[in-house]
Amino acid sequence: MKTRVAFVGTGGRSGVHIERLVNFEDVELVGFMDVIPERAQGRCAQAGQGKAYDDYKTMLDDAAPEVLYVCVPPGEHGAIEREAIARGIHLFVEKPMALDLKEAEEIGALAAAKNLVTCVGFQDRYLDLVELCRTWMQGREVGLVDGAWVGGLPGVPWYPKYSTCGGQIVEQNIHIFDMVRNLFGEPAKVYCAGGRGIIQQEGYDLHDYSSAVITMQSGVVVTLHTGCYRADGAPNFPNGLSIHCTDCTIRYSLRNQAVFESKDEKILQRWKHDWQTVMNRTFIDAVRTGDTSAIRSPYADALKSLRLCLACNESMETGNVVLIGD
Ligand SMILES: NC(=O)c1ccc[n+]([C@@H]2O[C@H](COP(=O)([O-])OP(=O)(O)OC[C@H]3O[C@@H](n4cnc5c(N)ncnc54)[C@H](O)[C@@H]3O)[C@@H](O)[C@H]2O)c1
Repeated sequence: MKTRVAFVGTGGRSGVHIERLVNFEDVELVGFMDVIPERAQGRCAQAGQGKAYDDYKTMLDDAAPEVLYVCVPPGEHGAIEREAIARGIHLFVEKPMALDLKEAEEIGALAAAKNLVTCVGFQDRYLDLVELCRTWMQGREVGLVDGAWVGGLPGVPWYPKYSTCGGQIVEQNIHIFDMVRNLFGEPAKVYCAGGRGIIQQEGYDLHDYSSAVITMQSGVVVTLHTGCYRADGAPNFPNGLSIHCTDCTIRYSLRNQAVFESKDEKILQRWKHDWQTVMNRTFIDAVRTGDTSAIRSPYADALKSLRLCLACNESMETGNVVLIGD
């Protein structure tokens, strides 16, 4: 029996998942819903299966999926997940899972109460390069870590406003913040300074750039830069993470390569396995078998990355250090 999968929100991100899911012989794509009907029809055509809908409840009634991928803009989460959970449908939710932490926590609790399989789209958790960095770090002390996601302003219409996007830390750099948790454990506190005024665009209210200093519970200090003001897209900015150990530096370049460099040695490794396939396969396997142990970013864990990023926003707004509880 094939696993019946449907999508709500069929913009850019959905296409990446669909491209992988169509190759899984044990998956049937049964429905695609978007508030822009042509987008749902377009994904239907891409998949060569399923049906397009303009209302998600109708889709859930009619297509009866066991799994729902929620790939809507950050401010549109909530009711969709609640409806799916009430129907016992397993959830793949794109990050950021909501802009309101309380809402996300409630959804997480509802999904857990129903024992549903959940996965949040922190794709980098399935990247072989990240595991390589972990291996290189083994047996070494780490003191300082710095990282960045700096580029231009993404073109999607919901991006320029906090109310629909959450800001660049919450929407985009959350991937690196999550990677910090993945590699170094939980944060204790964060201070974040942001600046505005470079991007002059009607309706835009985001910070153009920021730097967050995170003290981890382990004592490791992490500095992460975030910026969307670079008109050139910042092709040479060192996006990713640099890990400074006692006798070496490990540089992870965003979804590209990892370099180990010590006094005597330099090793460069590019990625080998398509991590988006690994992520989708892992999630579908978990749904089919009920064994969720291989999912690296279940909703309950992803909540902690969302909390950290929202704490950065709070710190930028208040100018205070924000303590992060467990
Ligand atoms: N995991 C990743 O690496 C990654 C990469 C890119 C985007 N994303 C995330 O995926 C989400 C979608 O991003 P995108 O790039 O596909 O954006 P997009 O604007 O291309 O697509 C979003 C789609 O959702 C539709 N939509 C809006 N409100 C809706 C609603 N209430 N119900 C149904 N459809 C609705 C829009 O019409 C649009 O087609 C965002 O949260 C983004 O942060 C994740």
